[in-house]
Amino acid sequence: MQIEHLNADRIPAVIELWDKVGLTRPWNDPGHDLRRALRGPSSTVLVGVEGDMIVASAMVGHDGHRGWLYYLATDPDHQRRGLGTELVAACESWLVNRGMPKVQLMVRGDNVAVIGFYRHLGYGEDDVRVLSRRLDHS
Ligand SMILES: CC(C)(COP(=O)(O)OP(=O)(O)OC[C@H]1O[C@@H](n2cnc3c(N)ncnc32)[C@H](O)[C@@H]1OP(=O)(O)O)[C@@H](O)C(=O)NCCC(=O)NCCS
Repeated sequence: MQIEHLNADRIPAVIELWDKVGLTRPWNDPGHDLRRALRGPSSTVLVGVEGDMIVASAMVGHDGHRGWLYYLATDPDHQRRGLGTELVAACESWLVNRGMPKVQLMVRGDNVAVIGFYRHLGYGEDDVRVLSRRLDHS
């Protein structure tokens, strides 16, 4: 697998992958999320490519204090081959190169299955609650 920065032309292929693995939600416009992440210097989208196909993807960014991972996905036909692990390592390198001392991510409450994956990579659970409020509509 070759890891590249996503070219905006291939946004539809990434959305297709996210749909396949169940990462999209009706209240988040995935195209908008991807374009926003590609826009500035503090975030990007990395994709794993084999031949012509995008087989894995992850969004990575930082807020000036911590690094964040979002939307990690490996195509179901290519899972358990180490691609997710490779992509997380590439995201971590991207953050280290920008001086970030820590990486964190949020896992939806119903996505218990993925916890084993992150634990395998050395991630631990923090005792925090995430609070949020939408700013794009009142
Ligand atoms: C999470 C995900 C990206 C992992 O991708 P992957 O390419 O299959 O991961 P890897 O092959 O690198 O897995 C490495 C190790 O993690 C562990 N692991 C992977 N998936 C696992 C799972 N579903 N449950 C428990 N452990 C898991 C295994 O120990 C695995 O090693 P092994 O195959 O030798 O046993 C993939 O399962 C996925 O796309 N899931 C759906 C989307 C999702 O939930 N994303 C995360 C949002 S926070």
